[in-house]
Amino acid sequence: MDVAIIGGRLDLGAGRRGVEMGPAAIRTAGLREHLVRLGHRIVADEDVALPEGVPVDVGDPTVKYADAVAAVAARLSETVRGHLVAGAVPVVLGGDHSLAIGSIAGAAAAASGRLGVIWIDAHGDVNTPETTPSGNIHGMPLAVALGYGDARLVAVGGPGAKVRPEAVVMLGLRDLDPGEKAFIRRLGLQAYTMHDIDRYGMSAVLERALSALPPVEALHVSLDLDALDPSDAPGVGTPVPGGITYREAHLAMEMLYETGLVRSVDVVEVNPILDERNRTAIAAVRLVGSLLGDRLL
Ligand code: ARG
Ligand code: MN
Ligand code: MN
Ligand code: MN
Repeated sequence: MDVAIIGGRLDLGAGRRGVEMGPAAIRTAGLREHLVRLGHRIVADEDVALPEGVPVDVGDPTVKYADAVAAVAARLSETVRGHLVAGAVPVVLGGDHSLAIGSIAGAAAAASGRLGVIWIDAHGDVNTPETTPSGNIHGMPLAVALGYGDARLVAVGGPGAKVRPEAVVMLGLRDLDPGEKAFIRRLGLQAYTMHDIDRYGMSAVLERALSALPPVEALHVSLDLDALDPSDAPGVGTPVPGGITYREAHLAMEMLYETGLVRSVDVVEVNPILDERNRTAIAAVRLVGSLLGDRLL
């Protein structure tokens, strides 16, 4: 298939620096070469950055750098939509998870509203300015995609929600803030914690999740590397013990590929400053490969 690699050099949504070098680390780990080896065609390899002249101000401490994050997300949304319309699979490299505000908006536009989102993360990322403990926007992008939160963020790529609650699956959860738990319950989101994965196994959990989805035209997979156990992916800014193993993550990617519906991907929160010999970025490369059809035999 045709693949467009998009580097999102964004760290303003996160509480610590360094994650803006994630795209460089993932490229250095051989993403392009790996995808070419799998038979894909790289039709673009580009970066989306902060537009010239947008001021970088913290602003409201409950939604830090909202203007700058919204500006990057708006650009990313257009870029993702453009590649999708041209028939390519956009692979967005982060950068912090606030990038997903843009990628989901672009994916939703291209799927004429019939988008499913698979959110693989230790965290819910469904905070709003009212519930956030940090003010960091990377803890909010899934709420924004569902239409909740700061108006500047919700407006990215067009007004209102980009995905319906019933078309969202959350996987790998183990660090939810009190307001996030309430949000998940209120919207009735399909949310699978590490408890579910331990108890039923990744395979059963994902099968159940996918069969409960309404009919969708496309799936957007948003993979936060902190979903993995820190022993397999140490290079992340907000590690949480007790995560998905390397093997479980690959199985999930392979099963998602088998749906035939994956049209766009985020691989985010890779922070090379915190990594060990780039192994988190290397894991990211291999996981994207599995999501795009790599097989052991
Ligand atoms: N829940 C915490 C917060 O809102 C952490 C969010 C971490 N998000 C992430 N994309 N790594 O600040
Ligand atoms: Mn996370
Ligand atoms: Mn937390
Ligand atoms: Mn996240």
